[in-house]
Amino acid sequence: MPDPASQTLILTGAANGIGRASALALAKRGYRLGLIDRDVDRLAQTERDCSAVGATVTMQVADVTDLAAIRHAVGAIEEKLGPIDMVFGGAGIGGLTLVNHLDPGALKAMLDVNVVGVANLIDAVLPGMFARKRGHIFGVSSVAGFRGLPWMAAYCASKSALTAYLEGLRPALKLRGVRVTTICPGFVRTAITADTPFKNPIKMLEPEQAAQYIVRAIERKPRDFVFPFSTKVGMSFLKGLPTPIFDWMMDRAGPTALNVDF
Ligand SMILES: NC(=O)c1ccc[n+]([C@@H]2O[C@H](COP(=O)([O-])OP(=O)(O)OC[C@H]3O[C@@H](n4cnc5c(N)ncnc54)[C@H](OP(=O)(O)O)[C@@H]3O)[C@@H](O)[C@H]2O)c1
Repeated sequence: MPDPASQTLILTGAANGIGRASALALAKRGYRLGLIDRDVDRLAQTERDCSAVGATVTMQVADVTDLAAIRHAVGAIEEKLGPIDMVFGGAGIGGLTLVNHLDPGALKAMLDVNVVGVANLIDAVLPGMFARKRGHIFGVSSVAGFRGLPWMAAYCASKSALTAYLEGLRPALKLRGVRVTTICPGFVRTAITADTPFKNPIKMLEPEQAAQYIVRAIERKPRDFVFPFSTKVGMSFLKGLPTPIFDWMMDRAGPTALNVDF
């Protein structure tokens, strides 16, 4: 494994939740970090906290859906920190999909941030990575992309699209020395999950626990990284179920899981 102090990593979504906790965990290990998010105050806090543990860190406020802004942010980070070795596309949004308020605009927003936002980040770093013939892209997808789940159809669609997008890019990028890891977390207690009106409490990781898994993914660089193990097993089982059994289960889970009109 290369010395973390020689590795420069850009993270999007670094102001909050999993991105912030991962930035802090990586800072403690000595990585050089470029932080991007749209939440300026929280991003500045993450930058200060990373700096306080001795990391070389810089931040850029940008919206991942704005390609020009992301290219500018990546350029500004490269000017300060030098060539980018790795990127972590963590900025994302979620939300319920309820048929009484279908809101196609919410689907579009999730596709824009969760899919196009990661594509924009990749687009911004590829010229440099191609020139150096090396680089690693970590895309944060989700186990929610394994199948269409009731109450989160739009989010599942966005994460399934991202997983397929990353998979499709993989062979051509590999030819040019750039590798891809698709990270699929299970439930983590962040703003994305905070407002979901689950009827029964759901077991969730804390962001700091998720960050430990993310560090492992970044250092081991597998093709896919699904965590925690219990969710990996459960969701892989669901993914492999014959459709009639899956449908039977979801017909029952949908109306019973949430405290809202399904
Ligand atoms: N939490 C989970 O259970 C879970 C499970 C699987 C996968 N994930 C994925 O993990 C990633 C991190 O999510 P999280 O749970 O840590 O959520 P979070 O706490 O809401 O953090 C996401 C961060 O991304 C930022 N962001 C959103 N849209 C952006 C945009 N257009 N441009 C720049 N920054 C933007 C958010 O800023 P604002 O606060 O301004 O929105 C926030 O700082 C997401 O891709 C999410 O889909 C989460």
